[in-house]
Amino acid sequence: MSESLSLPLIEARLWHPVCEASVLAAEPLPLRLLGQDLVLWRDAAGAPHAFIDQCPHRGARLSLGRVCEGRLTCPYHGWAFEGDGRCASIPAVPGFKPPASHAARTFAVVERHGLLWVRLLQEGDDPGVPRFDAEGDARLRKVLCGPYDVAGSAPRIVENFLDMSHFGFVHTGILGDLAHTETPPYQVSVDAQGVHVSDVRAWQPQSNRLSAEGSWVSYGYEVPAPYTAVLTKAPDAQAGYSESIALFVCPVEPERSRVWVRLAVPDFASSDEQLRAFQDGIFMQDAPIVESQRPRLLPVTDAVVREVHSAADRSSTAYRRYLREQGITFGVC
Ligand code: FES
Ligand SMILES: [Fe+2]
Repeated sequence: MSESLSLPLIEARLWHPVCEASVLAAEPLPLRLLGQDLVLWRDAAGAPHAFIDQCPHRGARLSLGRVCEGRLTCPYHGWAFEGDGRCASIPAVPGFKPPASHAARTFAVVERHGLLWVRLLQEGDDPGVPRFDAEGDARLRKVLCGPYDVAGSAPRIVENFLDMSHFGFVHTGILGDLAHTETPPYQVSVDAQGVHVSDVRAWQPQSNRLSAEGSWVSYGYEVPAPYTAVLTKAPDAQAGYSESIALFVCPVEPERSRVWVRLAVPDFASSDEQLRAFQDGIFMQDAPIVESQRPRLLPVTDAVVREVHSAADRSSTAYRRYLREQGITFGVC
């Protein structure tokens, strides 16, 4: 079975978000990650499992089957698989004890930040699920927004999140305005841990759902993994916490992605729906722009297309360098 998988090797060793933890219930859920069809399901104890969505017997889609007595059961001949992939029974041959070779192909899955994360290749050091430090701060409210399905590559979406000079144009009256289009200089560095952008300042008419008037907002970005970015605002001087927003992107196909935005905000007055509606509004302004970009893949070298930059784009060029240095090939050109 493993021979049939053709995975981008660097990317397949990373953890990727695939669905909200709350969405996975009793029925098997078909998903796609890095061009592979997966099925997610929960066993009798509620533990999540991720298999390749292809039965080892005759290749039927396991996601068309059902979970019976805590086992994923194929829709074609009823072979039943345990959470570890082992085939427990073959209804056509009742007395037969299926050997290890009859197992389904499994992948590691964990729950973090309200999402289920999958790692397709267990080789090499485990990089861990990307960090989101604000997750553990009880003074901040966590809300998951999305998913947003985008006809664009994951790196184009991350780069858009790091891009400050579009605020006045794309998010006029909310995250920027046309009277403040300048991007003041900021600091950028790249290392093996990711991209670090600091000392960012932006004039924002409405930086969050409750802000009533415009203000200069100070913040920074971290890119702790190739398809994740975290925005953290300067600490609140009195309260000491730092409002933070994470962008988690699932690279579905090279030119197709699924996105979640995880909020960690001090706003306990708004409802989840109100907070999500605000993020939905912002994202719906970004999505048509990102989907319009050509090529859809992010150019990290000049091999296919040479995009040009200004001094305001140092976060973008640093991100492209980071992807090159990490050896990322999925979603870039
Ligand atoms: S194809 Fe799955 S049991 Fe036969
Ligand atoms: Fe934007």
